[in-house]
Amino acid sequence: MPKGEPFKIKMVEPIRLIPREEREAALKAAHYNPFFLRSSDVYIDLLTDSGTGAMSQFQWSAMMLGDESYAGASSYYKLKETVTDITGYEYVIPTHQGRGAEKSAFSQLIRPGMYVLSNMFFDTTRGHVQLAGGRPVDLLMDYPTDEFHPFKGNMDTAKLERFIAEHGAENIACIVMTVTNNSAGGQPVSMANIRETYQIAKKHGLLVLFDVARYAENCHFIRMREEGYADKAPIDIAREMFSYGDGLMMSAKKDALVNIGGLLAFRDEDLFTRVGAAVVPFEGFLTYGGLAGRDLEAMAVGLREALDPDYLAYRVGQVQYLGELLRSAGVPIQWPVGGHAVFIDAAKFLPHIPWDQFPGHALTLALYIEGGVRAVEVGSLMLGRDPETGENVRSPFEFTRLAIPRRVYTNQHMEDVAEAVINAYKRREEIRGVRFTKEPKVLRHFTAHFDLV
Ligand code: F0G
Repeated sequence: MPKGEPFKIKMVEPIRLIPREEREAALKAAHYNPFFLRSSDVYIDLLTDSGTGAMSQFQWSAMMLGDESYAGASSYYKLKETVTDITGYEYVIPTHQGRGAEKSAFSQLIRPGMYVLSNMFFDTTRGHVQLAGGRPVDLLMDYPTDEFHPFKGNMDTAKLERFIAEHGAENIACIVMTVTNNSAGGQPVSMANIRETYQIAKKHGLLVLFDVARYAENCHFIRMREEGYADKAPIDIAREMFSYGDGLMMSAKKDALVNIGGLLAFRDEDLFTRVGAAVVPFEGFLTYGGLAGRDLEAMAVGLREALDPDYLAYRVGQVQYLGELLRSAGVPIQWPVGGHAVFIDAAKFLPHIPWDQFPGHALTLALYIEGGVRAVEVGSLMLGRDPETGENVRSPFEFTRLAIPRRVYTNQHMEDVAEAVINAYKRREEIRGVRFTKEPKVLRHFTAHFDLV
């Protein structure tokens, strides 16, 4: 197998590392919240892999064919046919991004007080369950972060059965399967687990919706790690996976390789009609959902490119490469490494910082100072407060996430990132926790202000 990226670079965007004193000033001006940094002050931006990927020449050229009709655009039909081919779902609605799909679906499917169960919610997904009056419940399998398991994103199906028995299926709006499981470290979910969850759901008449921001990466892991899938094409694995669900919500900004966009798709007309009723006022008419025709074209092409086995091997391989650099230097990371990001175990990296001074966030600040690298906390800061008690909720993990944009950085960049992390590790005793100087109520991590403790 060749080692190089399965593409060459046709257009470049300059980046530079600003001097350390300027990084210190920029961080202070950003109220110690990397979301407030200007991207021009960032050298390597690993804040997210969402909407930050590079499109291919095929996607750029498809954009010239965008049909900007308000209703029934040919670009919509190209997208719909692609989605139906991959998923088997006949009813397809574009949305402006993943959270548009979440808001439209949950506002229609949840009655106040109902539970929504998941292997683990992503933060906006959890936020939309709560905004619709629902109660999100994570039923992730318990795995130590440093112990190998091929599918650490799995739903704990025993807990799922118990929860349904205790609370009654009539009080549960739906089950959300997040693949890969972002909040648990970008970890994959096995086909066996997806199938079993669906069987349990159907036994109780419950709906299963996929949150498939990174499903192509999940298909790659199933192919590599689950018995019986080594010889299957990623698209065939995807087709089987989608057969164990009733519909999907997707942030197309990840595995559809576009800078903006989202999707809803359903197996039956009833769901489409119910959820579609919310899409029209929130997002736009059912055939454009807040996107331009050219966006729909780019998405249709990107969905197929992301299922290319060579692309997937390169993509997941680059994330593994960074993980190996860190692990071999003794940095505590979630292991095995997930599909889109390396998750540093900040609780272990910074044992002197208490969980409610957010070690995962403290480490993002240190990485920016060390190497101009922007990362994000995934832990108790992101999880927020219990809406009923107002107390901080303690996350099972305190992670600092290094999310790798698709087709954007080279492995040399990964080496610079590793150097910044290793340098921060060497002086870890000096890293301080944070406290809020301003704390918004919902999705607080995006806009909070902090001070060092
Ligand atoms: N679901 C998952 C699993 C996600 O990771 C995200 C976004 C969404 C839904 C929402 O999609 O951003 O298009 O509205 N994740 C990004 C991240 C923001 O950085 O992990 P969106």
